[in-house]
Amino acid sequence: MQFGHFDNAAKEYVITRPDTPRSWSNYLGSTEFGSIITNNAGGYTFYRSAAQGRFVRIRFNAVPLDQPGRYIYLRDAESGDYWSASWQPVGKPLDSYKSECRHGTAYTVISSEYAGIKAETTYFVPLGKTLEVWRLKLTNTGAKPRKLSAFTYVEYAGNWSAFNDLTNLQYSQFIVRMGVEDGIIDHGTNVHIPEDPKNFENADQGRHTFLALVGAPVTGFDTDRTAFIGTYGSYAKPKAVEAGRCSGSLAYGDNGCGSLQTDIELAPGETREITVLMGVGRAGVEGKAAAAAFSQEGVVDSELAMLKAYWHGRIEGLTAETPDPAFNSMLAIWGPFNCQMTYAWSRAASLIYAGERDGLGYRDTVQDLLGVMHAIPQEAVKRLELMLSGQLANGGAMPVVKQFAHHPGSEKEPPEHEYRSDDGMWLFNTVPAYIKESGDTGFLNKVIPYADHGEASVLGHLRRAIDFNLTHSGKHGLPCGLSADWNDCIRLGKNGETVMVAFQLRFALATYAELCAIAGEAGEKAWAEQMLAEFDARLAETTWDGAWYLRGFGEDGTKFGSHELKEGAIFLNTQTWAVFSGHAQGERAETAMGSVEKHLSSEYGLALCAPPFVETSMKVMRAVLFNPGMKENGAVFTHTQGWAVIAETMLGHGDRAYRYYRATMPAAWNDKAEVREIEPYVYCQFTHTPPSPHAGAARVPWLSGSASWAYVAGTQYVLGIRADWNGLTIDPCIPASWPGFTATRRFRGKTVSITVKNPKCVEKGVAKLTLNGEVLSGNLVPADKLKDSNAVVVEMG
Ligand code: GLC
Repeated sequence: MQFGHFDNAAKEYVITRPDTPRSWSNYLGSTEFGSIITNNAGGYTFYRSAAQGRFVRIRFNAVPLDQPGRYIYLRDAESGDYWSASWQPVGKPLDSYKSECRHGTAYTVISSEYAGIKAETTYFVPLGKTLEVWRLKLTNTGAKPRKLSAFTYVEYAGNWSAFNDLTNLQYSQFIVRMGVEDGIIDHGTNVHIPEDPKNFENADQGRHTFLALVGAPVTGFDTDRTAFIGTYGSYAKPKAVEAGRCSGSLAYGDNGCGSLQTDIELAPGETREITVLMGVGRAGVEGKAAAAAFSQEGVVDSELAMLKAYWHGRIEGLTAETPDPAFNSMLAIWGPFNCQMTYAWSRAASLIYAGERDGLGYRDTVQDLLGVMHAIPQEAVKRLELMLSGQLANGGAMPVVKQFAHHPGSEKEPPEHEYRSDDGMWLFNTVPAYIKESGDTGFLNKVIPYADHGEASVLGHLRRAIDFNLTHSGKHGLPCGLSADWNDCIRLGKNGETVMVAFQLRFALATYAELCAIAGEAGEKAWAEQMLAEFDARLAETTWDGAWYLRGFGEDGTKFGSHELKEGAIFLNTQTWAVFSGHAQGERAETAMGSVEKHLSSEYGLALCAPPFVETSMKVMRAVLFNPGMKENGAVFTHTQGWAVIAETMLGHGDRAYRYYRATMPAAWNDKAEVREIEPYVYCQFTHTPPSPHAGAARVPWLSGSASWAYVAGTQYVLGIRADWNGLTIDPCIPASWPGFTATRRFRGKTVSITVKNPKCVEKGVAKLTLNGEVLSGNLVPADKLKDSNAVVVEMG
């Protein structure tokens, strides 16, 4: 069943049925001012942090999932009938209420038609501004003149805090003080104490937001929730809308809300436009200024056009046309846009991430950078530097880097039991990704402080990351598991060993050797190569279980991920990382990936492990705490699918790689949206697998490691367009049935147009490559041969 479709030309997803299986959301704004909006105008708004800067309320996990939000109620003065400009919250019957929602790149347009009135609301945050615009166009499509009232509604969160608002009511309910100045609502918090704008984390400060309406006179207002909704009213039946007028309430404690009323007459065929502005600052200062600026003719349109151009530019680092329309929709917009949102918001703001994680988780953030590196390398490297400064002098990492309060050089070392074994290993993916994209090899010499004390060059940081895992290693000479490796539910401890990180360490040593060659560090390179050879031999001897690789060794010597066990006998990640790291080759690589297909694959993708845990002690395998088929207990954990796709392409299996790729590609499920349930344009954290009764249902949309690895796997390994040290490698691995594809890649300030032809129906292999007509040997397009615009033709065979 479909609830909408992709509009690639407009770069939008169009929801044509508003009763989606879950609320389907989008992001507006920037990291300075962010908003989540759903297809029914639900969601919330915040300044800088969804946890500490929240000023618009949502009740997480409510029924429906997304209430309240940013509503505009419409009421016919003659009939007294009322509805909302988005289907919810009033929820008129869908046979008489038509609606469409277009989610675009940081804007959303919700349109409806009911009782002869068309309403179209465009929501966005203008570039560089700390305010949200809701532009409403109302059209009378009937033959009679109409008298309408429009009422805005937004509910304010107490104390600008997601937590205080929902749990500390004895406090947060008594610091709101609402006012109205020249028809602009002033939402004040702690208005009697000084402002402290430089100190974002100080909750005890005066703060204000405003709500203004331009384009029509304000004829009434309510700022007290009870006055507007009524004690026994609801968002579907607000008292003021039923009555047809606001009461002029001024909240003094309890719950503040923002309702501005305007009365509009519409002649047949007439369209009127009003604009609501909600932003940070005082009504009398920032509010007035915004109202003045946005009442100018054409400002809303020009701001919207600038916003679209900005975001389209940010997601156009790579465009491609393949034989698969679903892949094309992901490549054109939603794949890169999902990566950008994950990079912007980490795991801090969505309908699921309710503010609990307010900071940059080390491993997650370093991986998120991979999905945006091709598009915004100069911005991404700043975040990478921040993360390097979250590494400790011992080579381990702070579990979370607090971007609002991070003090490199004087952070406290975390307690021993908090170290994860994988954190520093991700730097070996991301540091090379930046250097390959930019050509900036000098980055390796850049000196960056450690979180606790001391400093080192980037290369020095990388060496320390390796040292951390070499010094924390166990009986088999493999890295210790510590409090977790990538898998939060595997606690192998300080004496147990993780095979996944062992493969990451193998990858790190190989990468470090390459980086040392670039940096001219011959001694270090020789050291890394020798370690690598020794380590490979150790891995070959200790980690093979017969038909696949083990997952780890417990402190008591238990082999996890072994055929000897009834539960968790095989894990996905150690098979994919064995290949991805370069360790597994030939027969073992084929056997391991064959076992993955045999034991882990289904139409929903590859399960993280099988069989799921039911009776295993949770001392090490904490996944047992989830229902089988969910999360780390044997679900399809989407983050990991990219590694499987990469591994299969490394083995030349284009058909299998793409089958896996498509299984978790959101757009490929568009016509089965009732099964997947979440947004068909967004990656998710996991998909239920049998034995879950909800097999196929996807959960935790938007923010996970999935989007970036899916993007890397799809563009760099399926399409095979990879930035390399000296140029762009083109090494596609595609389904044999594909006749080819075209792509355009921005690379080091140049544009490269690529045509790939597959006349012999192969899955992998470049027979011929020409750059601007010149035949080159191999499959590397050297950076120093690039002109401003380039044509590359690749013939597979
Ligand atoms: C969640 C965490 C991530 C972890 C993964 C697997 O997605 O954010 O850090 O690697 O779960 O446990």
